[in-house]
Amino acid sequence: MTVAAVVPAAGRGERLGPGEPKALRLLGGTTLLAQAVARLQSAAQVDLVVVAVPDGEQDRTAAELGVRTVVGGADRRASVAAALAALPDHVDVVLVHDAARPLAPSSLADAVVGAVHAGYLGVVPGLPLTDTIKQVDADGIVVATHERGALRAIQTPQGFRRDVLERAHAQVPLDSPVTDDAGLLELLGIPVLVIDGAEDAFKVTRPADLGRAEARLAVLAGEASR
Ligand code: C5P
Repeated sequence: MTVAAVVPAAGRGERLGPGEPKALRLLGGTTLLAQAVARLQSAAQVDLVVVAVPDGEQDRTAAELGVRTVVGGADRRASVAAALAALPDHVDVVLVHDAARPLAPSSLADAVVGAVHAGYLGVVPGLPLTDTIKQVDADGIVVATHERGALRAIQTPQGFRRDVLERAHAQVPLDSPVTDDAGLLELLGIPVLVIDGAEDAFKVTRPADLGRAEARLAVLAGEASR
């Protein structure tokens, strides 16, 4: 089996405030994207990495990170689709991983691939919630409270049989309100397995998340040097 990791990294990241595209923000003397890619490249189960980047960044990113690159699309889904279209024929398992989750450990990628190898068509990491989640209407009035014990906060990398993910991207209408790749499978009625996620796979979205990532990276570096 050949496993490719696809990294959508073409978003502007406006919730982080003004500056570089999110994937190119600095973390630990390098970029969010470089951190995420290095962890994928260290995963025993990952054979190659393809990154969807903003137009103009293809050559520099490919040279600096040792990855294949494609130009991303207008939204995350389009960026993933562009990377899928650039995969070599012999790839049969695909991980999709956000550049915005720079500290997701290599072991998490390996665990996701392991579950795909075991026969699951779609596999996502998830963590139990600490907050209570309420659904509200357009006026902010609560319409439902979902039972917390049955909910999971879903992370990346998400793993799929390549043929299944490509079919899902092709068949689900572009205007479907889907925010992750597993959501495409769900709309087609394909089962998706949730495995235990990792605290370190948190997403960098707002400025405070960058501070959290810097602090965590310092701890990880200290542990590695001991
Ligand atoms: O904005 P958000 O945090 O949901 O972005 C998730 C991931 O999707 C990020 O890694 C971002 O770079 C990527 N993305 C992309 N192309 C877009 C928009 C987002 O690759 N047009």
